[in-house]
Order: sequence, then C-alpha cells, then structure tokens
Amino acid sequence: MADYILSLDQGTTSTRAIVFDRAGSILATAQREHTQYFPQPGWVEHDADEIWRNARNCIGLVLADAQLTATDIVAVGITNQRETTICWDRKTGKPLHPAIVWQDTRTQEIVDRIAEEGAEQGGVDRFRERTGLPLNAYFTATKIAWLLEHVERIRERAERGEVLFGTVDSWLTWHLTGGPNGGVHITDVTNASRSLLMRLDTCQWDDELLEAFDIPRACLPEIRSSSEVYGRCSVRSPLPGVPVAGILGDQQAATFGQAAFDMGEAKNTYGTGSFLVYGTGTKPVQSEHGLLTTVAYRLGDGPTHYALEGSIAVTGSLVQWLRDNLGMIKSSAEIEPLAQTVEDNGGCYIVPAFSGLYAPWWRPDARGVIVGLTRFINKGHIARAALESTAFQSADVLDACNADAPEPLTELRVDGGMTVNDSLMQFQADVLGVPVVRPVVTETTALGAAFVAGLAVGFWSGLDELRSLWQEDRRFYPSMPEDAREALRGKWREAVSRSFDLA
Ligand code: G3P
Repeated sequence: MADYILSLDQGTTSTRAIVFDRAGSILATAQREHTQYFPQPGWVEHDADEIWRNARNCIGLVLADAQLTATDIVAVGITNQRETTICWDRKTGKPLHPAIVWQDTRTQEIVDRIAEEGAEQGGVDRFRERTGLPLNAYFTATKIAWLLEHVERIRERAERGEVLFGTVDSWLTWHLTGGPNGGVHITDVTNASRSLLMRLDTCQWDDELLEAFDIPRACLPEIRSSSEVYGRCSVRSPLPGVPVAGILGDQQAATFGQAAFDMGEAKNTYGTGSFLVYGTGTKPVQSEHGLLTTVAYRLGDGPTHYALEGSIAVTGSLVQWLRDNLGMIKSSAEIEPLAQTVEDNGGCYIVPAFSGLYAPWWRPDARGVIVGLTRFINKGHIARAALESTAFQSADVLDACNADAPEPLTELRVDGGMTVNDSLMQFQADVLGVPVVRPVVTETTALGAAFVAGLAVGFWSGLDELRSLWQEDRRFYPSMPEDAREALRGKWREAVSRSFDLA
C-alpha cells in the first residue's frame, strides 16, 4: 500500500507541496512564491494560471525530492487561502480575470449598496445570523458580484454554466481532476462558509443570499464535506489516479493540524495575516464581540463542527511590506535581529490597517498608521513595532474570544511561519498573559489537509490517532508584570483609534 499523503498548501504568498508519513512527519517540501499584483490602492490580485502552474511544479519537485512516484501517494489533501475568487471558462480552463484576493477592498461599493438595501434588516449585519459573517469586502460573494458586474458578457455565460466560479480549492481540484475534460467543480464546507452565500445550519447555498448578491447558482461549485474522495487526479496531472480526498480552508486546516477538534480548543496561525480559531463543537455560536462564526470541519457524513474566528488581515505581510515597499530589510528573517537592536519600541506603534481593520473592529474606513515618532526612533524601533503589532492584534482578538466563549482560554497553541521567532512568541505570551504553546510541526496548515485526506481513505483510523501525533516543542510563559502589560496595550489601543476614518 502507498505510504504517504501529499498536501497542497496554496497560501496568499506561496504554494507548497508537502509529503507526510504515517507519523505526521514531513518527508519533503517544495515551495514556489507567486507574484502579488497591486494595480490600484486597495486592489490585490493573483494570476490563477501561475498558481496552478506552481502547484503542478511543486508536486513534481516534492516527489522527485522524496524519491517517490504517484503510486506512493495514497491521497491528496488541499488547503488554501480562503475567499480569493477566480472565474474561468469551463471549456478552455482559462481564467477570465485575475483572481481577486481576500485582502482586496475594491468591492466596498457593493458592500455599501447591499447594506443600504437592507438597512432595516441590520445593514452590514443583515446576514450575520444566517452566515456568521458581517457584510465586508473580505468575503467571496462581494468579489463574485464585482466580477459579474465588470467582466464582459460574463453574466449570461455564468447563467448558462459556461463560466465557473470558485475559491482556490475549487480551481485546483477542478484542474487536478481533469479540467475541461471532466474536472469536478466542488468546494468544501469550510471554504463555502466564508462566502456570505452559505447558510450555517444547512451548509448549502441559500436562494435569498444568492438573490441579494445577484449571483446565479449554475456557476457555483457543489458544497461537499472536508473529508471524502471527490475524484481522482487525471492522467495528465502529476499524480495520475491519486484520489483528491480532503479540502479545508487554510485556517481551518491549521486548527485541524493542531489536533484542536473539540469545543474549547483553539489555535492562532501567524501567516500573511493571523487567524485565531476557537472550536465551539457541533453548534454555531454567534459572537457578541466582533468574531466570525465559521465552519471548522465536516468529515464525510458526520456532523458539522463550528468555530469562532478572529481574523487579522495584516501581520506577516507587514514584514513583507517593510522589505518590498520600504526596502528596510533584504529578507523577512532579518526582522528579528533588527528588532533586537533596541530595548523596546521607543513609544512607536504601527497599526497595519492596509485593508481596513478586521476582527474585532470591522472598520473598513481604517488605514495604516505609524504613531509615536520622535527623532529617537530608528529602524530597530520600527522593526520592533511591526512585530509587536502582530502580538497586540492577536491579544485584541483573544480578549474578544474570551468574552464570547463559555470558558476563557488558559493557553494558546500557535503555528505558521512567524512562530520560529522566539522573541515574538515570548512577547505574545507577555501581552496575552497566558502560555503560548508551539508544536514540533509548525506546518499545521499542510498537516491538517493531510489529516482530512488521510482519514477519508483510511490511512489514519480516526481523531484519537491524530491526537496522539501532536507533539509540543516549546511553551512560552508570560513574564511581564500586569501593569506594564496594561500600559503597553493601552497605548496600542490609542494607536488603533488613530487609524479610523482615514479611507
Ligand atoms: O482568510 C484569508 C486566509 O485564509 C489567508 O491565509 O495563510 O494565506 O495568510 P494565509
């Protein structure tokens, strides 16, 4: 029997293929970055063809590196940047427009219009109970609506099912399973739960929501569970005959990869943005404090599991911005030593509200600010303020989570690229006031997708086996006195208030 699972992790900045063994250990990894396009202020685009090319290349590279062939792979799991929207021609497989990325705010006009139309029903909160989400440019429906309004002849073709829409999971699955020659057009419940088009209780597209956004059902993928065989990779793919057997949006995948399956278990992932996900079991819980209600996973015919999520748009991408837009560092890794050249932030705070502020504020009118500048401030302070903004934003979201949850969190599991940064993790524990726990495998996003694919084909026996694979690497204990923590967080909140009303 084949002995490995291949996980395809298509993130905001790069695509990775990772091969896992039965112990959940990484055998080999291949990674390719893709181009970020910023054609206008607030716009963020990707080339969907480049993403598919990178995915194919990474699969080929990882197999070669691990000295494996497709016959050694028992199943493929897919995890993806969520909400990013692609439309393509069913016959040719060609995208009809650049992918509109989750961070893109061009659809604010549509948001305002639909909120206005439903002013009596709650304005931006009019769909919250049904979908768990506020009306915001972040979510997929607004991007589909924009494409239907702006790409020539697209609406009539979408109504005839000639044009397909989907998030990146749909795009990759369709291509892997044959593309124009029989590719399956599906998405999973976790990705669909980010669309503003799916009811949380039925996990199906909802006619009234489709009508509100004026989106024809024929162009949407079928919603499936997160763990089942959706189809097999085509003979022309790099994994001929291998089943595609698991899909999770990347934040839900990271939660699953952290073995946080049950009510009260949570994780925070530090990627382009940061996303705290707190499991609420098989009942959706509505947030009173600015969190989203979202689907955590559904395994085959099993019950749907839900979560509260605190989404932060910009954390790691602030470091990239310092690198690419300001040229302050040459590589992202240089941020930590630079931040350590100074004792503290020197009174400088950065609020990176590049796409407005998401949780817990939901302020589309916010824009980034750097406050507290004096002649004393140098590059080290800016680097430090950039890293600290990640920790402060996560602390705001954790407070909201504790206010909504029946029991406050006593520790926080963390994962993602930035968690290798020990001083950031220590500062995170200090401002949270609870221990921060880092696992051995910090690639929990890819691991989560491998887990759901492996469960679907019987590679792993169940959640207990997966739980036994999770291992702690290091625990960071809070060591900052409470009054110092409160003073820092007070200044941070003051800085946040300065970012409002700038759009
Ligand atoms: O909702 C957006 C999120 O899925 C993006 O995650 O890891 O690509 O920053 P990441």
